[in-house]
Amino acid sequence: MLYVYSPRDQDAWRAAFARHLPHTPIAVYPDVVAPEAVTHIAAWQPPADFFTQFPNLQAAFALGAGVDRFLAQSDLPVHIPLYRLTDAGMAPQMLEYVLYGVLYFQRDFDHYAAMQAQHTWDVAPPRLAGETRVTVLGLGEIGGYVAKGLAALGYRVAGWSRSSRELAGVDCRHGLDALPGLFAQTDILVSLLPSTPQTRGLLDAARFAQLPQGAALINAARGDQVDEDALLAALGSGHLRGALLDVFATEPLPTESQLWSHPRVRITPHIAAATLRDDAAKQIAERLAVLAAGGSPSGQVDRVQSY
Ligand code: NDP
Ligand code: OXD
Repeated sequence: MLYVYSPRDQDAWRAAFARHLPHTPIAVYPDVVAPEAVTHIAAWQPPADFFTQFPNLQAAFALGAGVDRFLAQSDLPVHIPLYRLTDAGMAPQMLEYVLYGVLYFQRDFDHYAAMQAQHTWDVAPPRLAGETRVTVLGLGEIGGYVAKGLAALGYRVAGWSRSSRELAGVDCRHGLDALPGLFAQTDILVSLLPSTPQTRGLLDAARFAQLPQGAALINAARGDQVDEDALLAALGSGHLRGALLDVFATEPLPTESQLWSHPRVRITPHIAAATLRDDAAKQIAERLAVLAAGGSPSGQVDRVQSY
């Protein structure tokens, strides 16, 4: 039996999985199930001590791309394979989100918003896409798509990953040693990295100082990669021109956070790329079929690398 745990939209999830797995028994939280009947789980933000209830669990599927919450669940046994959504309709949404942010800073919409508030007609010098250096941190399913998409639109795109990558039109670098050189040549920094022990806190005061004066940040990955105090300081001093933030160390962003009212910050509530139920259910159904045939589906999380 596939047991689906999502804190929201239970009926919609039930319908989506029923469409793609018409012959599989499906239960959706808060249905009452015999725990021993559950062999597979698809979940988002499962509560603590969730997995220990199911003695016959064979595999778990995250209903999202980032699995940091899953890995924080100490009770998901290491021998149970965990699969995450790979693209599943999220990458094009993310490209749109990042493109909005890139245009916002490249075409000076931040400047014009400030000028409008002062009723001031002030024309900034043009900056073309080909003169705008965008660095994408994380070149995976989503970051790779975004980097290639921006390059195809004429931006000067560099990218950063853990291992070596090659992407058409993208200056790909990898490893920590590459970061200072990359940051020094970045007008707009985009994070699409997973949250792992290596990436948490990566964007701190020292890293912001490596960016040129007037650079901007777009973070649509995970909030714990950014030292929010260091970000506020870099924005306050004017070293950073602005930030478009979709994710935060604490979500929802606490009402008292200074980020809410900072004039150089634009905030969205973790909506950059939504999980699309139909695409997600289809991908999980395909992976269940591969498992049933004795194969190894794509999207398995590396429990050592934490993504
Ligand atoms: P992937 O696992 O496909 O890609 C991760 C990329 O990050 C890879 O290129 C990987 O390198 C790189 N990476 C990981 N660790 C390091 C490191 N220590 N140093 C350098 N590079 C590193 O993830 P996705 O592209 O599918 O998703 C990325 C993240 O986006 C998710 O984890 C999630 O947090 C976030 N997200 C946010 C959403 C939103 O709405 N805001 C929606 C969906 C996802 P390598 O290529 O060498 O493996
Ligand atoms: C995800 C997310 O990781 O929504 O899928 O952030």
